[in-house]
This record gives sequence, structure tokens and C-alpha cells, in this order.
Amino acid sequence: MFPRTRFRRLRKNKKFRDFVCESSLDVGDLVYPIFVDENLKEKKEIEEMPGQFTYPLGELSKLTEEILELKIPAVIVFGIPSYKDPQGSSAYSRDGIAQKAIREIKNTSGEDLIVIGDLCLCEYTDHGHCGVIKNGRVDNDETLKIYGKIAVSLAEAGVDIVAPSGMMDGMVMAIRDSLDREGFSDVPIMSYSVKYNTVLYSPFRYAAQSAPKFGDRASYQMDIRNSDEAIREAKADIEEGADIIMVKPSFLDIIYRVKSELRCPTATFCVSGEYVMLKMASKYLDEKRNVLEYHLCRKRAGADILITYYAKEIAEWLREI
Ligand code: PBG
Ligand code: ZN
Repeated sequence: MFPRTRFRRLRKNKKFRDFVCESSLDVGDLVYPIFVDENLKEKKEIEEMPGQFTYPLGELSKLTEEILELKIPAVIVFGIPSYKDPQGSSAYSRDGIAQKAIREIKNTSGEDLIVIGDLCLCEYTDHGHCGVIKNGRVDNDETLKIYGKIAVSLAEAGVDIVAPSGMMDGMVMAIRDSLDREGFSDVPIMSYSVKYNTVLYSPFRYAAQSAPKFGDRASYQMDIRNSDEAIREAKADIEEGADIIMVKPSFLDIIYRVKSELRCPTATFCVSGEYVMLKMASKYLDEKRNVLEYHLCRKRAGADILITYYAKEIAEWLREI
């Protein structure tokens, strides 16, 4: 108690503050999302996400060079196909856009970059849902069969981690089984275990052309009013064989609970809507400080890995500090 306890002793100067700090931002924890569009000839700015781009295959090597130069260790790849059908068959074709992009990135970056493949159907189905439709509903178990095929085709293309984002029950088990059966038992799964139904994905859906044509995703994504359910979802995924758990969007209370209750490698996705909020706020406050603080708070809450559209800027800013 005061006057024996004086908190200001350790806040005296930067050296002391840096010495005792509990958490920090590290470029080694960042993942940059990449959109690859089969319909494009040259890279194009995403109107709903100022400063972010969709890329054609041909311009990926320039981007990966930049990412390697910044020492960002990982990217997550989203494919936008030119052909869509009810089954999302372009998602598991050998010459699918994601498969080509993964091969291209692995060819140009080799062992230096961890390539994560987002695994979902919404970009590939003509109806825009994350699974196949049967009797007017997204059918869980039929969808699992397709997820297994996508996982194997991404692994064959050379992906380092598969990241299923469709929120089907049993998806981690189905994918683990398929990968193991085809000789990919060493490919880890980063599961979008805790993925909420939120307006914060809308800029992404514009970019990825993946908005549902009818209804919404409330029958498979989580209700934002719940937090116990997040623990149950994450626990189930761990039991099914997930190696990394993801919390999305980067809700602080949920990151904190997942990390402190389950003690597993935990990633969080600072999603497109969060990016846009930060970007718009930069008109009124210092963008660099705001963005660094925002992401640092996710680390403090317990996130080990940050997937963020700000990865490149953060990597640059961390160099300056
Ligand atoms: C696909 C997927 C989405 C995001 C990542 N994977 C959109 C969705 O579920 O509609 C959102 C990412 C973002 O908003 O940045 N299932
Ligand atoms: Zn989806």
C-alpha cells in the first residue's frame, strides 16, 4: 500500500516500461489476407476497403516479395473463381484459382512463407452460402463431404495450413480424416471455430463476391449474444483435431475466455469491418497509434496470431519503433 507501493517506479522511463511490459506486438505473429480473382487482369482496389486490393494470379509474386521483405511470416489466401455452381465445384478443382494461387506463392516464396488456405464454399457457390443446399437449407453433412475434397486439393497444391471457415458441425473431423487418408497428416488445421454472425464481414463479401443470394448465415454462424457457446465450439474443434483455434471477429472478451479456458494456440481475425472502422477513424485520430493499440489489445487478451489487413503497415511501423 502507498507510500511503499509506488506504481510509477516502473513507469519512470521507456527502458523500464519496455523491460516490464507483459505483451507486445511482433511481426512474427502477423498474417496478411490475400484475395486472388480469376476474372482480373490487373490488381484492383476494393472500393469497400480503401487501401486493400484484389489480385490476378500474375501479380502475386510482386506482393509476396513485398510480404517477405517486411518479414511477415504468413498469408491467408481467398480465391474468387470465374465459374460458380450450386456445389461450388471450382473450390476443389485442380486448376481452381486458390490452388493455382497457392502453387504460385509456394513457387516464388518457397519455405519462407506459411501459406494458409481459407476453406469455404461461399465464394464458389452460385447461391453464396458456405455449404450446399438441400430442401432449401444449408445441409451440414453433405457439405462435409465437399470440405474434405477441398482440403485435399489445397494440400495437393502445397498449402501449409488449411483454415475451414464455414461453421459446419464436424468440419474439423471430416477434414482431418480426408487429409490423413490422402497422406497429408502433417498439414495442420486452423479452424474458424468461433465465428460470429455479424455485419462486420460485409466489406469482405463485396471483395470476395460471396454474399448469400437468399437468407443469411444465422443458421450456421454464431449468435453475437453468446459467449459460453464459443467455448463449446472451440472445445469441440480441439477434440476433432484442430491445431489452432480462431476467434472472429476479434472480440476481446471471447479471445480472453478462449485462451484462458482452453490454453491452445489462438488466432484472431481482425475482419474487414474492423479494418474499415479503423481506416475511417484515422480521419480523426492518429492512424498508426490507433492501429497499433488496437492490435496490441488483441495480444493482451490472449491472441497468439493476428490475421489483419493492417499487417503490412504494422510490420513497417514496428521497424520504426
Ligand atoms: C468465408 C469467410 C468470410 C470471412 C472470412 N472467410 C465471410 C463470411 O463468412 O461471410 C470474413 C473475413 C472478413 O470480413 O475480413 N466464409
Ligand atoms: Zn463461407
